Amino acid sequence: MHSEEHEAQPAKAFERSDVMDKLVALCKRRGFIFPSSEIYGGINSCWDYGPLGVELKNNIKAWWWRSMTWHRDDIEGLDAAILMHPRVWEASGHVAGFSDPMVDCKLCKQRFRTDQVGEATCPRKPSVAPGTAGCPGELTEPRLFNLMFQTYIGPVEEEGARIYLRPETAQGSYVNFRNVQQPSRQKIPFGIAQIGKAFRNEISPGNFIFRSREFEQMEMQFFVKPDTAMEWFEHWREARFNWYLSLGIRPEHLRFHQHGPQELAHYARAAFDIEYQYPFGWRELEGIHNRGDFDLTQHQQFSGKDLSYFDEATRERFVPYIIETAVGVDRTLLTCLIDAYDEEPERVVLHLSPTLAPIKVAIFPLVKRDRMPEIAQRVTAMLRPHFKVFYDESGAIGRRYRRQDEIGTPYGVTVDSDTLVDNTVTLRERDSMAQERVSIERLVEKLRELLG
Ligand code: GAP
Repeated sequence: MHSEEHEAQPAKAFERSDVMDKLVALCKRRGFIFPSSEIYGGINSCWDYGPLGVELKNNIKAWWWRSMTWHRDDIEGLDAAILMHPRVWEASGHVAGFSDPMVDCKLCKQRFRTDQVGEATCPRKPSVAPGTAGCPGELTEPRLFNLMFQTYIGPVEEEGARIYLRPETAQGSYVNFRNVQQPSRQKIPFGIAQIGKAFRNEISPGNFIFRSREFEQMEMQFFVKPDTAMEWFEHWREARFNWYLSLGIRPEHLRFHQHGPQELAHYARAAFDIEYQYPFGWRELEGIHNRGDFDLTQHQQFSGKDLSYFDEATRERFVPYIIETAVGVDRTLLTCLIDAYDEEPERVVLHLSPTLAPIKVAIFPLVKRDRMPEIAQRVTAMLRPHFKVFYDESGAIGRRYRRQDEIGTPYGVTVDSDTLVDNTVTLRERDSMAQERVSIERLVEKLRELLG
């Protein structure tokens, strides 16, 4: 049996603050994520997911989807259109209220959110930051800047044809409350889960994919009887926290933040964020809101359609309250990458949960002779119907292992000289780098056990 070029060693401490730069470079180099339209110089805060990125993203979405719609029978799926009737956004409050107050610097023409002005510097007057005492009178009065992207439906660009790219998936679930509830014969309490793109013309996007202008959301709206709302709110708060633990996120990097009265969104009666400790500080990863009856009441008013619910058991009619869980796919992906990233003296390793890893098994012939490549290709063909696999025969074996460690591949299978004798392969585990021999015959079964 061959051994690796190095032994497992305790993790070397590395600066967590450098992790973002390292991850951005790794994501580009290994084909996870790169700037959109890069050959044209990129477009600010839009990102493209490459071969490994899209696998990781799909795995995150599948895990969420399963936890919502497969593992329980009181949540239905939905995929609503991105373009919706413009009245939806009047009813939701987004036309009037989804805006940030902005000021322009008259010198450098940059635009700042008023609450961030003190942190910004003016390139035309680097010695003074706009909004500080040294720069009086250089800023315009604050003006509201709506974050929704607008476009026109049909050929004529006129006011009546103006529509928006949705800034959240939630409204699609509210306006379809009856369309989902009736055919699925769900009774309250029940939920609607949705994954889809959302668009926000963010003033200060940044931190890689943490805040971008085009992103994906995984949102679940749970419709409940008003007097049970706080109970369900607690249920979802706990369930969502545990979901991150099920992805292997370290609990010490997660915490709750309860919104105070000043922070609550216009629709929310109570709200908790699940925050993650990013290298740039504690920030919101997911929001859990008790939205009361705000949404359905508004849509009743604006559409003129009855969205109340008749409870046959209690003979009561009411407008359901909504408990919402809302998280970005991209932000979850970034969180998983940051949490998984590790540097050891001889290697960089992503300790991604096997459920999420873009490639589950890599297969290597130890050397390119003695029929090893042929056997390794046969093993690859055998595994391919079951797992996302990758075959690699180029370079030293230690180097091939390290290339897989860096992208989080949990298992490596090596065909070596013992294989020729007894039809066994070396199975190597990414985190411990421990190796064991497994017969080719038992490999699918063994990997199934390990990968779940
Ligand atoms: N329906 C409620 C809602 O949209 P939100 O807090 O505005 O609430 C929910 O967004 C989640 O969507 C956030 O917690 C975050 O994970 C993600 N998100 C929001 N804006 C984002 C952006 N510009 N880029 C990436 N993810 C974003």
